[in-house]
Amino acid sequence: MSATHKPLVFSGMQPTGNIHLGNYLGAIKNWIPMQRQMPCIFCVVDMHSLTIWVEPNELRENTRKIAAAYIAGGIDPKLSAIFPQSGVPAHAELAWILSCVARIGWLNRMTQFKEKAGKNREAMSVGLYAYPVLMAADILAYKGTHVPVGDDQKQHVELARDIAQKFNNDFGVPDFFPLPEPMIMGPAARVMSLRDGQAKMSKSDPSDNSRINLTDDNDMIVQKIKKARTDPEPLPTSLEGLDGRPEASNLLGIFAALSDITKEQALMRFGNQQFLAFKNELAELMVEKIGPIRDEMARLMSDAAELDRLLRDGARQAEAIAEPIVAEVRRIVGLVAR
Ligand code: AMP
Ligand code: TRP
Repeated sequence: MSATHKPLVFSGMQPTGNIHLGNYLGAIKNWIPMQRQMPCIFCVVDMHSLTIWVEPNELRENTRKIAAAYIAGGIDPKLSAIFPQSGVPAHAELAWILSCVARIGWLNRMTQFKEKAGKNREAMSVGLYAYPVLMAADILAYKGTHVPVGDDQKQHVELARDIAQKFNNDFGVPDFFPLPEPMIMGPAARVMSLRDGQAKMSKSDPSDNSRINLTDDNDMIVQKIKKARTDPEPLPTSLEGLDGRPEASNLLGIFAALSDITKEQALMRFGNQQFLAFKNELAELMVEKIGPIRDEMARLMSDAAELDRLLRDGARQAEAIAEPIVAEVRRIVGLVAR
């Protein structure tokens, strides 16, 4: 990365579906320490949620829910800007300009679109296809340099780098945009479904038992861990012993992330033990860590007016950074001043 750019963290999450343990361990939890290291911007990407049909009232309510999860999970609105993407028009404006920089061939390689569209490509919205360009605009509107995300978003952040690089080259402004770095952190950067160790834990999985929602009560957490799929062998004593055992690997990664240790350290503790004993400890730990977040989310959600005020404040802070950058982009590409 070029030394001329000030470090700035940008990340976001869609307000669609059920926010879950993967979102917490793969994203939010890793954002918390960054707040004291560099300026941070955490967006609720509500325009991304429009790419697949969502009930308007549900979208509005979920935008608050994600903001509440950010705060309950440890994001401090005094240190970091928290706001809805639609509250800062610069995102949509830059997305259009960048969509004229990005190449169709680049978007055709995006694996998430292929997964989401399946065989139904022709029936998908144009927005779903262009989604990674809007994501690039989110980051680049702030000249974001560090993008902490779960493993599934790495390809999208790399695309944002390619778009930034092409913009800089095409317009002869070599250092205008930084090339943002994906930061994939911790032992749970890819939390898998509790029902199938080969599938990602996802907001949209029809089986609620596949994920721990951040809104689950303690009993549900315990039940879901009890029912989580495993294999018949005791836990291994080394990392190599996890090869070919995706469910064991996943549960161990979750334990490690929740207790801020490595998978190796977790194995030192649980190696040779049966799943039953391990699952009891995992369930207890999860209730201890997720319970307070759930309760704080509920408290924050009970005051919608206060959350809305916070989101508006966050949007004004974010806009003060993004608007001058996008004004400069308009000038660089030859759009008239306004
Ligand atoms: P999304 O729910 O797609 O808006 O994702 C929001 C953030 O959570 C992104 O940084 C994702 O990479 C991360 N994330 C989503 N699902 C998982 C998962 N199963 N494991 C780890 N991180 C995840
Ligand atoms: N596409 C991301 C996801 O589904 C969410 C997102 C949108 C994002 N814009 C972003 C993440 C910018 C990081 C930076 O998880």
